[in-house]
Amino acid sequence: SSASLWGGRFSGGPADALAALSKSTHFDWRLARHDLAGSRAHARVLHRAGLLDDPTLASMLAALDALEADVVSGAFVAADDDEDVHTALERGLVERAGADVGGRLRAGRSRNDQIATLLRMYLRDEARTIAALVLDVVDAIVSQATTHAGVPMPGRTHLQHAQPVLLAHHLLAHAWALLRDVDRLRDWDARADVSPYGSGALAGSSLGLDPQAVAEELGFARSVENSIDGTASRDVAAEFAFVAAMVAVDVSRLAEEVVLWATKEFSYVVLDDAYSTGSSIMPQKKNPDVAELARGKAGRLVGDLSGLLTTLKALPLAYNRDLQEDKEPVFDAVDTLEVLLPAFAGMVATLRFDTQRLASLAPQGFALATDVAEWLVREGVPFRVAHEVAGACVRACEQRGVELWDLTDEDLAGIDPHLTPAVREVLSVEGSLASRDAVGGTAPARVAEQLDRARAAAAGS
Ligand code: ARG
Repeated sequence: SSASLWGGRFSGGPADALAALSKSTHFDWRLARHDLAGSRAHARVLHRAGLLDDPTLASMLAALDALEADVVSGAFVAADDDEDVHTALERGLVERAGADVGGRLRAGRSRNDQIATLLRMYLRDEARTIAALVLDVVDAIVSQATTHAGVPMPGRTHLQHAQPVLLAHHLLAHAWALLRDVDRLRDWDARADVSPYGSGALAGSSLGLDPQAVAEELGFARSVENSIDGTASRDVAAEFAFVAAMVAVDVSRLAEEVVLWATKEFSYVVLDDAYSTGSSIMPQKKNPDVAELARGKAGRLVGDLSGLLTTLKALPLAYNRDLQEDKEPVFDAVDTLEVLLPAFAGMVATLRFDTQRLASLAPQGFALATDVAEWLVREGVPFRVAHEVAGACVRACEQRGVELWDLTDEDLAGIDPHLTPAVREVLSVEGSLASRDAVGGTAPARVAEQLDRARAAAAGS
């Protein structure tokens, strides 16, 4: 069509099947405003290089503003034969500014350096949004930890009762993982803070344009060192996809616990009605769909990452059209997180914990056996012996169907003479928790400090 950016050497138009395959406006349209920002910056460097006179620049910028208003209002949309967002917007510019003015903007730029730049601009914006949404989840976790500051629960390894921990300690473990993801988004941004604009198709521009000026106008610290790298690399997109997948994977681990916790067998939590769903056939059902979707979406984000990495694998330099496949995975990752995280934060914030049940389960399953062994160590018994002795206590309890604290003084002395009645000081959840008071441990005093630091980290992020 006349709007194509490359018709000159061809005798006829593209086959319909090619046009259908090639087209990307149905997904790259979301970059329209970034493309227009790039066009304004590019117009200014053309002007500074003496390639646009003052009135031409002024009418070009006015036309770009008018076009942007039409894009925002929806009055301007991609036409059927627009290959991509860049083609469509250049058509819109020419329609508004005329072919003589509008036709000058393509000088010194290529869709290759455009798209590489726009994708970074878009992802940097979305990374800030996602960081804020992750912090909302962290806030929900921190407020549950605050509400339940003193509540013990069964700590598990291998999903088996291991040692009592504070619920707040367990919840904050999820918060720290998510705070690292927020850090990752910030770290990523420092590498994304480089503009490929001015790289041209691959070799740079011959027109005396200043890539640094464009970079600064578009909010980047600097322009790329290498125009081939600028147009061919997509590690910035892949790293973004990784961090997005990591967020979802971290969320999925809490999600899985919520699914378990909401079962009849666990009964640790009750989900708020607003964050659970029913069954079309079973009237009693109350399902943890938010948590299940979080678990499921994590798989989807891992797929986005691996699809993108597979596209990049063994791709020769510089630009290849394969790179058009960079966008849908990261767009999908963005859309998925932006719909998932608010629902997940709401679900977490409204969980109701059965604190009595958690507390009464905390010491069960011989979860205080390690405390017995460590008490013996403090009495001077070598740990290997202490471990055997505490194990013998567990065996004795199992045979009789009782818990460790049900053993009588005679039972204890009969198992090992070191087991004096004083061992009872650690045969309670309170004693066990209080004893784990090194930095990072589950003692109430340490968890209170940790909670303060998590709150400060979330506020400072
Ligand atoms: N739409 C392409 C992309 O998303 C950019 C256009 C580059 N096309 C080309 N034939 N060099 O990567």
